[in-house]
Amino acid sequence: SASIVLKRTGQKMPQVGFGLWKVTKSTCADTVYNALKAGYRLLDGAGDYGNEKEAGEGLRRAISDGIVKREDVFVTSKLWNTFHAREHVGALARKQLGLWGIDYFDLFLIHFPIALQYVDPAHRYPPEWFGDDGKVYLANVPFSETWGAMETLVDEGLVKNIGVSNCQGALLLDVLRYAKYAPAVNQVELHPYLSQEALIKLCNTLGVAITAYSSLGPQSYVELGGSKGAENLLQHSAVASIASKHSKSTAQVLLRWAVQQGLAVIPKSNNHDRLVQNLQVEQFTLTDDEMKQLSSLNVNLRLNDPADIDPRMAIFA
Ligand code: A2P
Repeated sequence: SASIVLKRTGQKMPQVGFGLWKVTKSTCADTVYNALKAGYRLLDGAGDYGNEKEAGEGLRRAISDGIVKREDVFVTSKLWNTFHAREHVGALARKQLGLWGIDYFDLFLIHFPIALQYVDPAHRYPPEWFGDDGKVYLANVPFSETWGAMETLVDEGLVKNIGVSNCQGALLLDVLRYAKYAPAVNQVELHPYLSQEALIKLCNTLGVAITAYSSLGPQSYVELGGSKGAENLLQHSAVASIASKHSKSTAQVLLRWAVQQGLAVIPKSNNHDRLVQNLQVEQFTLTDDEMKQLSSLNVNLRLNDPADIDPRMAIFA
């Protein structure tokens, strides 16, 4: 499958990866194994997803069965908000590598540009937004400190590439002013209802690759109960008519729209047929007019906004 060349290392990041957010823990090892068997070569995990150990089991089983070699799989993980202080970054990365049972990540991202007070992972892991009392506690850790600690992970050989997630343009520009290693990737919510055209332009200019998450829009939030009343893109008439012209599913059209813009996508599925279907988005091309029709659905609808959890975290305000 096609890939994106990351700027500093020249490493290739597959454009279509398998997302681990919401992948059921009890079946995660088998799902990951089957995803690799089906041809996925990128796994997008995070401490927050609570299934790293199981994902690692699936990966290691696929390696021991000869389906893939470690170096053929691009493994991404993410640093949770409670670990932003310099002294916690390395310990957390080592813990996460231990859960996966591997000795490096291909990409490690700062999950959100929000520092929360530290909670010992021995006490609470996977990490969460809230304290034990259900409240959110911000921490005074500058982003530059966290970024410096991420760079140390590169120097120590624990991660090949580092990047950010959920970052807007102003913060990216600031990181680039002090970074020894520029962010390779910015992973953001991106679908036709939130097309992020300005951020794409900026990132293209800066050489920061974008990974789009929640490519299927509201559908990505159905199981969390929070699609904010938006019409499901998978059933949208404009998407459906394009899909029928190409004899593809609406999901494939939404993924193709992102891939054709040079973005990476990381769809998740707990269902094997859908998992296989989502990988097959490189055998057809949308016309310029179809691309524009999909882009014109933009209404700047952000489904994953930390301000919905706590108004003090309105990072997209
Ligand atoms: P399921 O796991 O039952 O397939 P995300 O955007 O976070 O990756 O989530 C994708 C959402 O869309 C999940 O709810 C997933 O449910 C569903 N999904 C994934 N692939 C498809 C597809 N090809 N067609 C329809 N729904 C899909």
